[in-house]
Amino acid sequence: MFNWLKRKSQAKPGNGRYKHGNDHLIELRQVVKTYEGAAGKFIALQNVDLNVNPGEFVAVIGKSGSGKSTLINMITGIDRPTSGSVLVGDTAVHTLSEGQIAVWRGKNVGVVFQFFQLLPTLTVIENVMLPMDFCDMWSMAEREERAMHLLELVDMTEHAFKLPTAVSGGQQQRVAIARALANDPPIIVADEPTGNLDSVTADAIFSLFAELVAGGKTILMVTHDMDLAKRASRTVVLVDGEIYKGRRTKSGLQAVLDEQKQQGAANLSLEGGHV
Ligand SMILES: Nc1ncnc2c1ncn2[C@@H]1O[C@H](COP(=O)(O)OP(=O)(O)OP(=O)(O)O)[C@@H](O)[C@H]1O
Ligand SMILES: [Mg+2]
Repeated sequence: MFNWLKRKSQAKPGNGRYKHGNDHLIELRQVVKTYEGAAGKFIALQNVDLNVNPGEFVAVIGKSGSGKSTLINMITGIDRPTSGSVLVGDTAVHTLSEGQIAVWRGKNVGVVFQFFQLLPTLTVIENVMLPMDFCDMWSMAEREERAMHLLELVDMTEHAFKLPTAVSGGQQQRVAIARALANDPPIIVADEPTGNLDSVTADAIFSLFAELVAGGKTILMVTHDMDLAKRASRTVVLVDGEIYKGRRTKSGLQAVLDEQKQQGAANLSLEGGHV
């Protein structure tokens, strides 16, 4: 079913390393992000080192304000680190100009934003076709057919010609997921992709992601849903802008998890160290 989605091999270059000496598809090295505000300097990310291999499905969890969106915005190039480096494949993302980042992202990273960010004046199908128009990787004839296929994957074909305001929040989220797949990017970065979905639809989206990973894609997914996080291949926990490196025991993570539980995560289990 997903063969048509596949475009290229995720294999590393012949010497086993990417162009900037990175061994991993995604490598964040000592990434710091600070914001200057009225109240002074705020450190949103502190010395973050993160490695992700091709084909991994990484869940990013942490309480609200812990830096999850900031972290994934570094990887997509939507935001820049104050210091440190962000290497994705052969690209040093932190060194690119705004224009270069937009072109690079369009081809390499599908982004599902926390608040959808569909263009309100375009129909659902036009929103899905927009990244294809921008990157010009598919013929005009292919674009609409491809967009319809993608809408089918997220069960939205019957709404294809409506404006985003005419569909529900959960449906907009599904359109945003279809749009993220438009150019068949090797990497998908999703910020709370199931946050607005009922549990059945959330489960279907998670299964779609799992199939995409099985087909060779690499996915980072921010989630508050501990049940979904536990089904990813790895979980990264953020605490106050730092990657939690302590023991993954009940006591070590209790504060993080208690907060998440309050935010709606059900049936929390710390068994097996996979949190
Ligand atoms: N543009 C900005 N200017 C100032 N501070 C910011 C900015 N963006 C984020 N922050 C701060 O950085 C911290 C991390 O924010 P971030 O959005 O990454 O959190 P999050 O873990 O994604 O939270 P949530 O679960 O609520 O989405 C927060 O304290 C936030 O207030
Ligand atoms: Mg966020």
